[in-house]
Amino acid sequence: MAENGLNIVWHSRSLTKADYYDRNGHRPLVVWFTGLSGSGKSTLAHAAEEALFKKGCYTYILDGDNMRHGLNSDLGFSEADRRENIRRIGEVAKLFVDAGIVVLAAFISPYQEDRDRVRALFEPAEFIEIYVKCDLDTCESRDPKGLYRKARAGQLPQFTGIDSPYEEPQAPELVIDTCRLGVEESVAEIIRFIERRSADGGRRTAVGGR
Ligand code: ADX
Repeated sequence: MAENGLNIVWHSRSLTKADYYDRNGHRPLVVWFTGLSGSGKSTLAHAAEEALFKKGCYTYILDGDNMRHGLNSDLGFSEADRRENIRRIGEVAKLFVDAGIVVLAAFISPYQEDRDRVRALFEPAEFIEIYVKCDLDTCESRDPKGLYRKARAGQLPQFTGIDSPYEEPQAPELVIDTCRLGVEESVAEIIRFIERRSADGGRRTAVGGR
C-alpha cells in the first residue's frame, strides 16, 4: 500500500489497462509533438487525431494554447513555469493513458530534460516523441498568431527561439520536417509510423487492433 508521507494512501483501481484494451480494441499511446511556435505542432496533432479517430481509436488532444486557458492558466513562460507546464501535462497524459486513450500532445516543450521526464512516466511502447522540425526563419515568416512580430518588437519577452531557448530532441522516434512536407503527407507518415510500430514484434499499440 503506497503512502506519500501526508497520510494519503493510494487507492488501487479494480479496472486494469487490459480491461480498457479489451473494450477499446487498441492500446493507449502518447504522441508528443515538440517544436518551435509556428512549426505546425497543433495542426499536425489535430489532423492526426482526426485520422486516428476515423480509424476507430479513442483519442484526446492536449494543446499548449488550450491548456494554458484552464489547468495551466496560472503559468507564464519563465523556465520554471514551462517546466511546471510540461510536468502537469505529463501527469494529465498519464491519466488518459490509464483510461486507454491515445493522447496527442502539442507543446513547444523546449527542454530535453522535461520531455525525458514525461517519457519516463510511460512504458516504452506507450510514448512517441515527434520533433516537428522547421527552421526559425520559416516559423517567423509564417507567424500565424503575429507573436514573432511582437517578440521582435520587444513586446513579448521570453519568446522561444528569440530570447528563450529551444533544445532540439536528441533521439525522437520521428522527425517531421514541415518546411518540406505538407499536412497530408506529414499525417500519413505519422500514421504509418504508428501502424508499423504497432505491428512490431507483437507489441501492438494504437491502431494495431487485437
Ligand atoms: S511551453 O514552452 O511551455 O511548452 P506551450 O506549448 O505550453 O509552451 O505554449 C506555447 C504557445 O503559447 C505558443 O504557441 C504561443 O501561441 C503562446 N506563447 C505566448 N507567449 C509565448 C512565449 N513567450 N514563448 C512561446 N510561446 C508563447
